[in-house]
Amino acid sequence: MPNYSTPSAPRGSARFLLLAVPAVILMLGGCASSSKATVGSADTPQAFKSNCISCHGTDLQGRMGATTNLTKVGKRMTKEQIATQIKQGGGGMPAFSGKLSDAQIEELAAWLSAKK
Ligand code: HEC
Repeated sequence: MPNYSTPSAPRGSARFLLLAVPAVILMLGGCASSSKATVGSADTPQAFKSNCISCHGTDLQGRMGATTNLTKVGKRMTKEQIATQIKQGGGGMPAFSGKLSDAQIEELAAWLSAKK
């Protein structure tokens, strides 16, 4: 799925943005307006709540189809593969290497790789 991440891709990326943008706006609105952060379960890392829920959902169930379901991601991917996916993105997912610290990526990869 090469076209999703290029801004110039006409149909695919427009549809993608239609799905992603409202979710991001909702999420930002939630963050700004309250301190009662009740998304996700208690063990959900803050970095996931702030960056990933819009596409992967509060319970990792995925909000953009089967490929975004992370409930059993530790069965398919090693911690290293997950860290690479977070850093580089791909397949419609943005890269987070400039956005999250190495420690945050490490925490997310460790947490997700335990989801089996
Ligand atoms: C804009 C939507 C979006 C955001 C935000 C996003 N992802 Fe993704 N993510 C995707 C999509 C779409 C895929 C499927 C990619 C593919 O099919 O190759 C994916 C795939 C993944 C995968 C691989 C799953 C698999 O089975 O191949 C992991 C791990 C992952 N994301 C973790 C994260 C984490 C952690 C964050 C937050 C730091 C995050 N994602 C933020 C859209 C997103």
